[in-house]
Amino acid sequence: MATRLLRFPQGFLWGATTSAYQIEGAWNEDGKGLSIWDVFVHQPGHVERGETGDVAADHYHRWPEDLALMSALGLQAYCFSVAWTRIQPEGYGRVNPAGLDFYERLVDGLLERNIQPWLMLYHWDLPQSLQEHGGWASRDTALRFADYAQIVAHRLGDRVTYWVTHNEPAVVAYAGHFSGEHAPGIRNPFIALRVVHHLLLAHGYGLQALRAVLPNGARLGIILNLIPTYPASETPQDQQAAQRFDGFQNRLFLDALLRGHYPEDLSHQFVGLFPEPQAGDLEIISEPMDFLGINYYSRAVVRYAPQALPLQAEQVYPAGNEYSQMWEIYPQGLYDLLTRLYIEYRDTPFCPLDWYITENGVPVPDGVDFDGRVRDERRIRYIRRHLRALHQAIQEGVPLRGYFYWSLLDNFEWAYGYRMRFGLVYVDFETQERIPKDSARFYAEVIRKNAIEVVE
Ligand code: FCB
Repeated sequence: MATRLLRFPQGFLWGATTSAYQIEGAWNEDGKGLSIWDVFVHQPGHVERGETGDVAADHYHRWPEDLALMSALGLQAYCFSVAWTRIQPEGYGRVNPAGLDFYERLVDGLLERNIQPWLMLYHWDLPQSLQEHGGWASRDTALRFADYAQIVAHRLGDRVTYWVTHNEPAVVAYAGHFSGEHAPGIRNPFIALRVVHHLLLAHGYGLQALRAVLPNGARLGIILNLIPTYPASETPQDQQAAQRFDGFQNRLFLDALLRGHYPEDLSHQFVGLFPEPQAGDLEIISEPMDFLGINYYSRAVVRYAPQALPLQAEQVYPAGNEYSQMWEIYPQGLYDLLTRLYIEYRDTPFCPLDWYITENGVPVPDGVDFDGRVRDERRIRYIRRHLRALHQAIQEGVPLRGYFYWSLLDNFEWAYGYRMRFGLVYVDFETQERIPKDSARFYAEVIRKNAIEVVE
């Protein structure tokens, strides 16, 4: 057995990602308005143990300490989201300057430390008052989003180069409006698909609004959670079920954004359920971007299930494989996903030239050992194996320019509350003490060497 160093391309960008609601806390401070998550978590039954993001990792107050942690890691980029309700408490009209000030201090702090800020405009925390006007089921919300994007760009456009419109529109649409596990807790497939269309429209209008005020060098994109999908068997029924699942999870978004039309097989099969775009909508949605962000956690193995409407497809979990607290661990899926995207989408009319992994990570039950150390060997293994898959895809020509780990800190994992720990840094939610895990040291080494060591 020998160890070998797998080097990443020169200039490959190493980062970490967080999101506002999951780390900031300070849910009702300095003029912030209520978001749909603030409302959802305070209703019983939505989050395990009734936990909320009211305090979360208290990043709103502890950001200087968190910046120091990022510096110690050697992070080159940090992707964070802006809470719309800090900027516009009602989601339209009135601007709250204290909110802009907070993100300005954060951005300046990142720049002082030579960490590239990646500013994401929407990571699921819609202003509650927009929800009361229909939320993402209403087309008007897409226009409100563009106004908000422009307000942030006016203040920070001279300092932030990388701008992201949405994080994971599929989760917003399906978990928020079909399964109802996420805010606003709606369970209606017709609404969910209308929401898909309006989120994508918001992205397109958002890009137009940003381009109108940002300097020429600004780089704009969207982040999608893509799930490579495999049929549970070779039967035509399972294969078609996997195709439908892939359609709604992946192609719906990819085709609209990169080809400028919704997938034809789906629009024929799901007439009535499918959004009916107004003339010109798809041109707005496929407005050219500079980069595509891809979040990868796991794969889906899918079988035909006539009762599981509307797709008649359900996920199965193959025995004998490795699982985390939430998903199967399947690094090969990252390679399969990227090479498939490369083959099927790189020549589409609106495909950006630069791709990034903007989230990848694993929840395992971390604990603090007797000596105060967090020995998260499984996380290290997870990262190493996924980076290896990524490296292989890059060798084969996939235009991957960077990798962001999810997440910098342990945080509020939506409906699971604080049980799921994804961080490189452990957070004691009683005391707010931060402890870099062994994986933080491992990741710092990867960044320093721009390489991973593999044993062969
Ligand atoms: C992604 C979300 C992020 C976090 C991770 C585990 O889908 O973008 O907020 O919940 O999953």
